[in-house]
Parts: sequence; structure tokens; C-alpha cells
Amino acid sequence: MNIHIISVVPELLESPFSHSIMKRASEKGLMHVTMHQLRKWAVNEYGMVDDYQFGGGAGMVMMCEPLVKAIEELNAAHAFDEIIYLTPDGEKFQQGLANALSLKKSLLFICGHYKGIDQRVRDHFITREISIGDYVLSGGELAAAVIVDAIGRLIPGVLNDETSALFDSFQDNLLAPPVYTRPEEFHGWKVPAVLLSGDHKKIAEWRNEQAIARTQERRPDLLKED
Ligand code: ADE
Repeated sequence: MNIHIISVVPELLESPFSHSIMKRASEKGLMHVTMHQLRKWAVNEYGMVDDYQFGGGAGMVMMCEPLVKAIEELNAAHAFDEIIYLTPDGEKFQQGLANALSLKKSLLFICGHYKGIDQRVRDHFITREISIGDYVLSGGELAAAVIVDAIGRLIPGVLNDETSALFDSFQDNLLAPPVYTRPEEFHGWKVPAVLLSGDHKKIAEWRNEQAIARTQERRPDLLKED
């Protein structure tokens, strides 16, 4: 999968994609992330990409021209499946959307800043608008990092044990059951005996019961979704 990200602070995303699973995904050639500095398409030699908003009001708005030039140039080269704008008023990001996006070949993310981007870019170029939650970040970069991480780990081959993503919380609308590792007893606290029994059917049943109980207790709303 090829992911391109347009931002005025691409440096913000250097670290998230240079370690751990995302690094492995890129080394294995399964996911390639390219950052683009929007100022490359600035309207003047001072790197201008934003301007005051019509109608007055505090805060700058990211201008059409740099964004449209950037999107057109990159889209001509990469034919994006989706052009995604990160914004608090977008569709709420959830596991189902991560699953759907992980099947795409090429994605472009636009990170907004200040008051956001000129509405005409949203109207004419953006195919999807996504929010990672009901709070306002100072820019779309961290939202892009969250989404790319969630998508990247679903690409077959990225995780060592390919089945493990299937048992994540939220797949099947259930939270994940508790997990334990060695030692079997620590400070007198014992691992549930069923996990040491070697009986795989019983273990699967126990995990399923635990997942349902945890979901009922912490996120009953998930059990009502279809
Ligand atoms: N940009 C600012 N806040 C955001 C949010 N909650 N989700 C996605 N992009 C954002």
C-alpha cells in the first residue's frame, strides 16, 4: 500500500513511522509512507499557504491553490483510491473503517491546520473526511498517524502472527479478553487455571465469555451495534 501525506509540518510524522510495526511494514515493502511539505506548492517565495478568512473571524484558512496543485500533481502520479481530509467534523474513525481502508492500494491524507482548509477543496477533491474522536487537535498529523497505524497493522504480512489482528478489540464488536504471561503465579496472584489446561476448546470458550463480560461492563454500546 502506498500512503502519501500532505502537511505543513511533515517532521511531526517522522518518528511514528520509523519504529516498530510501521518500520517493519515499510522494510518488508508492504506499506510505503511518503510525506509532502505543502509549502512546496506555496503561492509565493515566502512559503505562503494560508490566508485570512472571508467574513472575518480569528484564525487562518489553508488556501485552495497550494492544496489543489499538490493534490493534482500527486494524484496524476499515484491515482489515489481515496483523498482523505482529517477533520473533527468528519466521519468517526472506527475499526470497520480501518478494515475497509486497509484493502486500498493508494491513499492520500491531507492534514489541516489553523481553521482548516478552504471549503472548495473539500467540495471538489476530498473523497472522505475522517475524525479520530470528539476533540480538536492542533492539526491533522497525529490523526493521520493514528489512522495509518491502525490500517498498516491490518495489511497481511505486517504482523508476525497474521491471525492476531483478527482477535483485536473491536473486531466482532467485542473488546479483547484479558491476557497473561509467565510466571503462573506472581505475588500470590494466579493465572486463571483454564489457560494452563491445554484444552483449546475450553480456552476459546473462556476467552469469548470474558470478552462478552468485559464489553458488557465497559462498552455496552458495542453490543447494540450490528
Ligand atoms: N484535526 C483536528 N482535530 C481532529 C480530529 N479530532 N480528528 C481528525 N483530524 C483532526
